[in-house]
Amino acid sequence: RILILDYGSQVTQLIARRVREAGVYCELHPGDVSTEFLQEQKTLGLKGIILSGSHLSAYDPQALKVPHAVFEQGVPVLGICYGMQAMAQQLGGEVSHADHREFGYAEVRARGHTHLLRDIDDFKTADGHGILKVWMSHGDQVTRLPDGFKLMASTASCPIAGMADEKRGFYGVQFHPEVTHTLKGQHILTRFVREICGCHGDWNMPDYVQEAITRIREQVGQDHVILGLSGGVDSSVAAALIHKAIGDQLTCVFVDHGLLRLNEAQQVMSTFAEHMGVNVIHVDATEQFMSKLDGVTDPEAKRKIIGREFVEVFQAESAKIQDARWLAQGTIYPDVIESAGAKTGKAVAIKSHHNVGGLPDTLNLKLLEPLRELFKDEVRKLGIALGLPPSMVYRHPFPGPGLGVRILGAVNKEFADWLRQADAIFIDELRMTFDEKTGKSWYDLTSQAFAVFLPVKSVGVMGDGRTYEYVVALRAVQTSDFMTAGWAPLPYDLLAKVSSRIINEVKGINRVVYDVSSKPPATIEWE
Ligand code: XMP
Repeated sequence: RILILDYGSQVTQLIARRVREAGVYCELHPGDVSTEFLQEQKTLGLKGIILSGSHLSAYDPQALKVPHAVFEQGVPVLGICYGMQAMAQQLGGEVSHADHREFGYAEVRARGHTHLLRDIDDFKTADGHGILKVWMSHGDQVTRLPDGFKLMASTASCPIAGMADEKRGFYGVQFHPEVTHTLKGQHILTRFVREICGCHGDWNMPDYVQEAITRIREQVGQDHVILGLSGGVDSSVAAALIHKAIGDQLTCVFVDHGLLRLNEAQQVMSTFAEHMGVNVIHVDATEQFMSKLDGVTDPEAKRKIIGREFVEVFQAESAKIQDARWLAQGTIYPDVIESAGAKTGKAVAIKSHHNVGGLPDTLNLKLLEPLRELFKDEVRKLGIALGLPPSMVYRHPFPGPGLGVRILGAVNKEFADWLRQADAIFIDELRMTFDEKTGKSWYDLTSQAFAVFLPVKSVGVMGDGRTYEYVVALRAVQTSDFMTAGWAPLPYDLLAKVSSRIINEVKGINRVVYDVSSKPPATIEWE
């Protein structure tokens, strides 16, 4: 196993992710671990330690110090950015403020013949030196190597960008190998954990399932856990995992606000309750949501109502579950980062996002968040390893307020029914139409696709008669992070088929349009 010590960098979890990608088990702990803790890790098979970067300077009194015992375990240590500086400082080198902060892309010359960087480079200079394309972010730098260390890498403005004491297996890099902008980063970290630390690289998702199950059992003991199941990937995977760990000690509450997709409630119930035997309480709160939303047209007001009602229904249901001590949530790592960002108050609220996660503290329950350290694609792999259907695990994201923000203006049951049908036709055709070049379906080639109901009437002709009905807009986007997105270049044939099916099959709709706006300036959802 590899131990990652966290000194507060925004990207520490990425180190864990890369180590997992190298097929090696790792654990992430705060940077000020005790000597006893390190010794215990040794008995558990500790093979190496990675020290993360930090948002603080090595001089900052608030910055965590690296415990000296880290260097006394007889295992290799890799310091990244702050981790390297702390290593240098503790082992007798020197760290100073750099003249200028270096931030972003840099080219590093890999020097010396160290095991860590040997034969790893992105290109060679005319005189044959290997160059790595890396990502840097630092204000301090190592200015004198500690005894026993040799220079491993340098840039024009950072003469000591990498150092190594190969006898002791100590390495430091000023750049960040864990971010993808460092092109050979995965290669470097894999070499460290597999070759230098000697880990096997045969750890995988099924192993993770076992470890996660053990952790959940230790955490909750005999207590009862409740979980708000939404049918989305994260809460579904969390439910499947926790159920595997503690069986009937888990009760899921599935609130149907009447704004779900076609057959979604039945699918959730059949997957979880029928096939997996999970306790799921299905609350059909359609009437309650519809009456609260009646006549409300403002998008933010609608979002707030849906969020508030959701909490109310969930609370009422969970109060009925005797001796529940834990509230489980499908929080994943990007949510953790996002809410940390939100706390700094720097982000402007464009839309108030409502999640099953937004439950109040008054529930008096302890939080169980077994997916907290995973990224979305890892959550999906975990879902597959747990036996969830791929159609559920690889589903496009669906917003908490559901069709409530896809029916523009006032929401009612009739509009919701029409929209559900139109949306199902669109998704159906996307799944069944394959792109010749890639062989993938258009569902897989888009990140999110859905229909939007526009409360606008237009004139049409059907058979011999005049129609005067509503409009549906189709939205399909491609994005990797949902922060920016482009509209998907869907084939005309596909659009034609979807349009004709919707107009013929869905009552109340006589016109279909395609949304060709990117984000920004538009957002993905219309409200
Ligand atoms: P926008 O419309 O802001 O959406 O470009 C970005 C992504 O977030 C989803 N979304 C939500 N997800 N609760 C959610 O869980 C919400 O209130 C919410 N609003 C938007 C949206 O579907 C897209 O994937």
